Order: sequence, then C-alpha cells, then structure tokens
Amino acid sequence: MDGFSALRRSALRPSCRALTSTSPVVLDFLAPRASRQPHLRRHFWGSSSASSSSPSDAQNSPSGATGPSGKPRYILNKRQREFLDSALRVNQAGELAATLIYKAQTPQVVRSYPHLRPLMKHMYDQEAGHFSTFNNLIAKHQVRPTAMYPVWEMAATFLGWSTGAMGREAAMACTEAVETEIGSHYNEQVREILSWAKEAESRGEELDEEITDLLAQLRRIRDEELEHLDHAVENDAKEAKPYDPLVNIIRYGCKGAIMITEKI
Ligand SMILES: [Fe+2]
Ligand SMILES: [Fe+2]
Repeated sequence: MDGFSALRRSALRPSCRALTSTSPVVLDFLAPRASRQPHLRRHFWGSSSASSSSPSDAQNSPSGATGPSGKPRYILNKRQREFLDSALRVNQAGELAATLIYKAQTPQVVRSYPHLRPLMKHMYDQEAGHFSTFNNLIAKHQVRPTAMYPVWEMAATFLGWSTGAMGREAAMACTEAVETEIGSHYNEQVREILSWAKEAESRGEELDEEITDLLAQLRRIRDEELEHLDHAVENDAKEAKPYDPLVNIIRYGCKGAIMITEKI
C-alpha cells in the first residue's frame, strides 16, 4: 500500500497546473482555470466542437467527423458533457475513499485474522487501480476535482478505522454497504451511456471511441465492486452487530456524499 502517496499526488496534479498569479491558490485548486474557461479545454470527449458556446451547444449536432467504423460521430450535448464531468468527479472521490477505507481497516483486520491479508490486499489493489483510472481521466478531460476532497479523505479514513476497530464483521459490513451504493451508482452511469448509444444508432451515428472506452471501464470497475460485495458477504458481513444501523448509516452517508460531490 506504499503507492498510495503517489496515487494521491497524481490525483492533485491536474489542479496544480492551473495555478495562476491572479487567483487565490485555494480557489485554483478547487476550480482549475481551464474548467472555468471552457474554450481552454483541449481534450473533451473527442469533440473539438465541445467547447462551443453557440445555441447548438444545447443539442446533439453532427460535427462532420466520423467514428471508428466510418459512421457520423455522435456529438455530446451540454447536458451530456456535464453528466460526464459530474460522474468522473464522483468516481474519483469514491475511489479515493475506497482506498482510504481499506488502508485504515487492513492492519486491524489482519491482526486478528491473518488469513484475510491476501483478500484485503486484492481489494485494495483493485481500488488503487480504479483510483488511478479516474485520476487519469480527470486529468485528460480537465475535470475539476471535488472541493470536498479533504473532507472525504478524513471521513473515509475515519470510517475505515472505526469499522476496522469494531471487528472483521463490521469491516465487511462497511464494504457491503459501500459497494451496494457504488455498484448501483456505476450502473446508473452505464445505463445513461447505453441510452446515448441507442440514440446514436437510431440516427445512424456512433459514439466516439473515448465514450465507448469509458463505458467498458465503467462496466469492468462496477463488476469488480460487486465482486468486493460478494467477498464481504462471504466473510460474515451480515454477522456485524449492530448490522442494520451500521449498514444504513454507511449507505445514507454514501448517497449524501455522491449528491454533494456531483455539485461541489
Ligand atoms: Fe473501486
Ligand atoms: Fe470496491
């Protein structure tokens, strides 16, 4: 788990590029210059017209470009681009939280249950991979990271530490609760992008490769999250005491964090 510091530094890197001498440092961290001035955004879902502020910005319109198989490329409208911005912001924050939860839980869980070390490491390694994926996407598409980043760091570490201290079953119940919410959140994103693919097909167009690649990544990561959920249940998550209050608090906490991070 020594790679966490490097992962965290890479998460902050895109924001650091945006520092200017005319704005407070903290505000530039929260709102990179390029995301406040859309015309400066160079990589945005394969569409050079994506930064347009013309009236056609509000609806899908042909760009004249073609997709991988030669069909006209489906151009995202403003709402769809904002959806992806928001989704990447939430996903990055969620994966940050997941790595911190496992980092805080693992020493306490494996002290009493050494046989769980490989499983905890396997789940942590997958979360670190997810975090790295969204760090790269956030940087590539110059999406503003959440302003709540430091708050979620503290909250996730506390959640991991406290459920780890409560014991193996509580730690697993925490994973079950988090993965239930995160799995369904990834599913919503997959469904939304599939609806764009359907619309594109009905118009004889096709999604940009960047979007289809993102869809594949979301499906893979969702499946891995659901695998974590299965591991948690197999390792007695339901034996946690008190199970219902613990799981409900964590699930409501996740829902609230997602809603806040979508906006802030
Ligand atoms: Fe994850
Ligand atoms: Fe997970």
